Amino acid sequence: MADKSLNEIRTKFLKYFEKNDHKIVESSNLVPNNDPTLMFANSGMVQFKNVFTGLEKRDYQRATTSQKCVRAGGKHNDLENVGYTPRHHTFFEMLGNFSFGDYFKERGIELAWNLITKDFGLDKNRLYVTVFHEDDEAFNFWRKIAGFNDDRIIRIATSDNFWSMGETGPCGPCSEIFYDHGDHLKGGLPGTKEQDGDRFIEIWNLVFMQYEQVSKDKRIDLPKPSVDTGMGLERIAALLQGTHDNYQTDHFKKLISSISEVTKVKQEDKNISSFRVIADHLRASSFLLAEGVLPSNEGRGYVLRRIMRRGMRHSHLLGSKEPIFYKIFDSLKSEMSGNYPELERSQSLIKETLRMEEEKFLVLLDRGIKILNDEISKIDKVLPGDVAFKLYDTYGFPLDLTEDILKNKSLKVDNKKFDELMKKSKELAKKNWKGSGDSSEEAIWFSIKDKTGPTEFLGYESNQSESIVLNLIKDNKEIKSLSNGEKGMIITNQTPFYGESGGQLGDKGKIVSGNSVFEVEDTQKKTWRLICSLWIFENW
Ligand code: ALA
Repeated sequence: MADKSLNEIRTKFLKYFEKNDHKIVESSNLVPNNDPTLMFANSGMVQFKNVFTGLEKRDYQRATTSQKCVRAGGKHNDLENVGYTPRHHTFFEMLGNFSFGDYFKERGIELAWNLITKDFGLDKNRLYVTVFHEDDEAFNFWRKIAGFNDDRIIRIATSDNFWSMGETGPCGPCSEIFYDHGDHLKGGLPGTKEQDGDRFIEIWNLVFMQYEQVSKDKRIDLPKPSVDTGMGLERIAALLQGTHDNYQTDHFKKLISSISEVTKVKQEDKNISSFRVIADHLRASSFLLAEGVLPSNEGRGYVLRRIMRRGMRHSHLLGSKEPIFYKIFDSLKSEMSGNYPELERSQSLIKETLRMEEEKFLVLLDRGIKILNDEISKIDKVLPGDVAFKLYDTYGFPLDLTEDILKNKSLKVDNKKFDELMKKSKELAKKNWKGSGDSSEEAIWFSIKDKTGPTEFLGYESNQSESIVLNLIKDNKEIKSLSNGEKGMIITNQTPFYGESGGQLGDKGKIVSGNSVFEVEDTQKKTWRLICSLWIFENW
C-alpha cells in the first residue's frame, strides 16, 4: 500500500464499503443545512443526524462517505494546534461507514478489522483498541474478531470514549483503533499521561450510536442502535505512506512544494509550522469560500477570516510581501477538484477573495507586528488587553492571531480587559447608530441583535434548511407566541431566505414546524451591519 496516493486511499475505502452493501453518499456541505446548532460539519454523521434519530428516512440502511469537515469553532476546535503538530487540521476529510438500525457492534468491528488488516494490510501487532469502560460487549467482540489479548483492549472511562456531535444530537459509547508508529517517537498508550505524544495514534473511531442528547439533562434512546465511524483520511494516508506526519503525504507535499515555489523559501525545521499552517488554512479557506462563506466580522464569516489571517501571517513570516494564497490555490484545485468540483466551479470567487483579503491584511500586518513587538519588549508575561484590542480594532488582528504570535514566546493576553473593551466598543457603536437619524422604531433590532446575534444566510448553497426560531415580533414588540391567522415576524439563527436588499426583493416561501405552516410573504434585512432576517407570516 505504500505507493497509494491520498486520492486512491479515499476511493479504496469507499469501494470496500460499497462492496459490503453500503451506498456511497456524497459529502454534505461544510455549512450544515440540517443542523442549526452546528457551525460547520465536524464529522461524517452530521448529514445523517436526522436519519439516526428517526426523523428522516432514506432508501438505504448502510452508507459510506468521505465528508468535508472543519474543526475551528464550537465543541470540536483544533485551530490553535495546527502548525505545531504533525496531525492537526482545521479542514480534513473524514472517511466513515454508517448503519442506520442495520448492523451494530459486532459487524461494525468486523468490517473495520477486515479493512485495516486485510485490504490496507496493517500489521496486527501494532494495533491497539479502546472501549468505553462499561462496554463489555465491545470488549468481547474485539477479543473474538481480532484475537486480541486483554492487554490490547484498553477500557477508558472518560468522554474520550463517549462520542457526541455537540451539546445535543445523537451520541454513544465508542471504540477507537490506535496504531503504534514505533518507539523512535515519544508517547504512551491511550489512558496514560503520555497519550498525546506522536507514537500511539488514533486512526479510527467506531461509535455505537444508541442515544440522543435532547437537552443538557435529558438523553433518550435512539429508535434503533446504529453505527457511525470516522477515520481521518489524512492520517490513514500518512500511515499507509510510511510516515506519522500528515504533512509528509503525497497530497501535502504537493501543496508544500507549491508554497516553496511561490515564496521561494525552502521548508526547514525552523519554518515547518508556517508551511503546515499555510497548507492547512488554504484548504479550509478555499472549501468555505466555495460554499459562499465570505470573510466578515461575525459568525461563520469571522471563523473564516481568523483562519485566513492566521495563514496569511505565516506567509508574511516566510517573507512574502505580496499575496500568495491565491497563487497556491491552483495546486489545491488540481489535487482535489476531481472529488470536489466546487473548487473548479467557484475558482474565481475563491481566488479573488483570497487575493483581496491578503492584500488588505498585509498592509495592516506590518504595522500591527511592529506595535506588538514594541509592546513585547516592555512586558514580562502578560500583554495588556488594550494593546490586544487596538490590534484587533485598528489592525484587524483577531485575538487568536495575537495569541498565536505570543505562544512561541510563552506570553499571554489579558483576556479580561480585552473582553471589557470589546463590550464597550459594541455599546458605543449602538449609541452612535441610534443618533444617526434612522427611525427610532428600528432601534428594537439592535437589542434583538445583541441577544440573538446575526442570522446566517445559507441561500447560496441551499433553498431549504433547519433553523432555530430565536424571536417572534408583532407590532414592533417581542412576543411569546403567534396564533392561527395572526401576522408577525420570525427571526431564526440561519436561513436560506434572501432578505430584500440591493434592488432584489425578499424571498417568499414556507416555514414548517410540526403541524404548523407559516406562509412567508416577505423577508427583510434589519440593521445595516449584522442582519436579522425576518418573516412576515400567517399561520394556516
Ligand atoms: N463521529 C465520530 C467522530 O467524529 C465517528 O469521531
